[in-house]
Amino acid sequence: MKYRTMGKLGIQSSAFGLGCMRFNGAASGDSVIDEEKAISLIRRAIDGGVTYLDTAYVYLDKTSEIVLGKALQDGYRERVTIATKMPGGAVHDRASMEALLDEELRKLQTDHIDFYLMHGIDRKGWEHFKAIGAPAFFDDMKKAGKIRYKCFSFHGSYEDFAYILGDCDWDMVQIQYNFMDVNNQAGRKGLELAGRMDIPVVIMEGLLGGRLSKAPSNVQALYDAFPVQRTPVEWAFRWLCNHPEVSVVLSGCNEAEQIDDNLRIFDTVEAGIMSPEELQLMDNVRAAYLSRTKIGCTGCRYCMPCPNGVNIPGIFSVWNNVSLYDTNPRWDWDLRQIREKGNGADQCVGCGACEAACPQHLGIIEGLQRAWTELTAE
Ligand SMILES: NC(=O)c1ccc[n+]([C@@H]2O[C@H](COP(=O)([O-])OP(=O)(O)OC[C@H]3O[C@@H](n4cnc5c(N)ncnc54)[C@H](OP(=O)(O)O)[C@@H]3O)[C@@H](O)[C@H]2O)c1
Repeated sequence: MKYRTMGKLGIQSSAFGLGCMRFNGAASGDSVIDEEKAISLIRRAIDGGVTYLDTAYVYLDKTSEIVLGKALQDGYRERVTIATKMPGGAVHDRASMEALLDEELRKLQTDHIDFYLMHGIDRKGWEHFKAIGAPAFFDDMKKAGKIRYKCFSFHGSYEDFAYILGDCDWDMVQIQYNFMDVNNQAGRKGLELAGRMDIPVVIMEGLLGGRLSKAPSNVQALYDAFPVQRTPVEWAFRWLCNHPEVSVVLSGCNEAEQIDDNLRIFDTVEAGIMSPEELQLMDNVRAAYLSRTKIGCTGCRYCMPCPNGVNIPGIFSVWNNVSLYDTNPRWDWDLRQIREKGNGADQCVGCGACEAACPQHLGIIEGLQRAWTELTAE
């Protein structure tokens, strides 16, 4: 296992961090944990050198923290750092934050949490946390020894990310990043910004939730033609660890073979390890993925807000992903959210404000109609 220094914190962490969100096929909707199996997976990872474990209050119907707490008995707690998270929707004042943190400590059977994160925020989520006094609460809990580091995990635009990063004295940040998300969410710009500020970055969804482990045929052909043979998972992690700003790459494993495979890979990957030819390969791989892309939306959000509330970048992202990875839109979480919130393309009145603003000059109105027809077909 390679270990990395976590930016300004100066502490060491295993480059591979185990995500505790996907035990027992949680990705496919089965959220009942096989406790014995999950505990053995967690201990297998720690015995293999993993020192960073990531969970959250809400994972696996609020049972992930309980299982992690059990796995960390028998001397395992002392060997690792734990990251867990506070969901903004469950807290509204200091008393509710304190009650939630105490519940998490009880579930995890520990007297302190190492990395405590405001969970999955964008600018709106951050404003909520600020309004209820979360930054001061986190500082007080640091002084009280209940948490060690004040952190956030992020899902939003680069602009939101830059704003949040500069708006508080953060100890660590967790972002979604992988070779397909270079210009999505915080993206490479966000990673480099955090690096310049010496704020350690933990990566989630490094395999896009597992989707990058299964290369489409045109991508596999590129991997096959390269002189050195590696699995798609190895290419994806190698590319991530090549970035010096990355401290930890999380991956949620569901099988012992995946843990062992990742332990093997993270034994070999370091910053600056990729040759120009390898970097070129990954650019070609990205292009091959994009060739199966339905529309060239980069998620820049210049088109937003839509006057009628259509989630334009969200719909195009789902449309692209379904085509790339041949998934069933019926099970797409993002699409379900868009439909539940009434932000679907059925709200579009064709005013064209989006097309006037789009720097890619996309035919958004027509694209939305095609996307919606395909995604909502019964
Ligand atoms: N804070 C937030 O908002 C947030 C959001 C998302 C995730 N997270 C955290 O970040 C962690 C990592 O994200 P993630 O779970 O999406 O990571 P990921 O690495 O992108 O995806 C994990 C999935 O990749 C597949 N996989 C992993 N190793 C593999 C291997 N060696 N060979 C083949 N397939 C492999 C498995 O998919 P299959 O199960 O399909 O085999 C696994 O479930 C999560 O577990 C969670 O703790 C946080």
